[in-house]
Order: sequence, then C-alpha cells, then structure tokens
Amino acid sequence: MLCLKAETAGTWAGLAAQELDRVLIDHAHCEMKAASNALSLVARHPDEMDLVRALSELAAEELDHFRRVVTVLEARGLTLGTPPVDTYAALLRNAAASLPSRHRTRLVLVDRLLVGALIEARSCERFKLLLPELPKVAPELVPFYEELFACEAKHFRTYVDLAKLAAREDANLVDGRLDTLATLEAQIIRDRALPSPTVHG
Ligand SMILES: [Fe+2]
Ligand SMILES: [Fe+2]
Repeated sequence: MLCLKAETAGTWAGLAAQELDRVLIDHAHCEMKAASNALSLVARHPDEMDLVRALSELAAEELDHFRRVVTVLEARGLTLGTPPVDTYAALLRNAAASLPSRHRTRLVLVDRLLVGALIEARSCERFKLLLPELPKVAPELVPFYEELFACEAKHFRTYVDLAKLAAREDANLVDGRLDTLATLEAQIIRDRALPSPTVHG
C-alpha cells in the first residue's frame, strides 16, 4: 500500500479493536507529534516558502485531528496521559541517519521529509486495517477513521512532493531514496516480536 514494503501482522487489527482505548490514546499523541514535527521543519527551513506553506497547512490538519481524537478520549472518560513508548519513529529516523550522504544538508531535509511520508503511509495502512473492526466496537468512529485514512494518504503525497522540491536538481533520486527508506521501514515492522495496541506498534 502506498510505498510500503511490509504488511502489518494480521493479528494487529483485532488486538487494536480489543484495546481501542489504548490505541486512541496513542493515536492522539501521534497526531500531536505529526503537527509538531511539521512545524519544526517549518522552523528549520524558514526560507523554503513552498515547504512553509504546505507544512503549516499539514500541521493545522494534524492539530485538528488531535483535537478531535481528544474529544473522543473525553467522551470515553479517558485522559490524554503520558505517551506510550513509541520506538517506531525513533528507529526509522535512526535508520535514515545511518544511510550514506548525511553530510549533505539538502539530503538530510529530503530524508526527513521521506521519513514523514513513510510514517503517514503506515498510519494510513493501520487506519484501513482498523476500519472493518470498528463497527463491532465503536461504530460511531467509522466516519472519522474513513476521513483520516484519506487525509493521511494525502499527507504521504505532500511529503513526497516536498522531498522532490527540496532535492532540486537531484529530484530524480527521490524515488530511489524512498525505496531504500521503505526497505528499512519494512524491516522495522517485520522485526516486531508481537503487535501492540498502538498506531505503529
Ligand atoms: Fe493526522
Ligand atoms: Fe498526517
């Protein structure tokens, strides 16, 4: 799906539905991190106006998702609480940092954007897997997750398009770089001993 090279374990969706409260809490944190990651890229690259515009728009959408998941938490009597341990994004960033060419500032930005694209793609896959389970446990959330599924797919494309812009004369290298990073991401997913009830677990 999208550029992903490994499918989530078949047991994840059932577990996520069973432990929906834990998934929702983790999901709220993921949306908050998605907004703050986009804004931190804006802060680091204030002269790249295409990036400033696209990522501030994306951050606004992620913040809207965050607020809506928080509303769901409150309706279920939950608090946001401290975030569950999320090794997925950290492992992915470390894997990207281990690739050659890190000395070139422009490729650092390209990689950060492509890591963002992969996280969006994986979230999108997870929402798609969760959707058939929701009617059994929380039918009222189906329209929300259908909307999120489409929105995270759109964010994947935004990040890939921005990576091509950021690469400038090296834009033709971006597809290959995404392919390499997707292979690393797939390994992280395959290395999971057991699925956990989190968006990327
Ligand atoms: Fe989102
Ligand atoms: Fe997103």
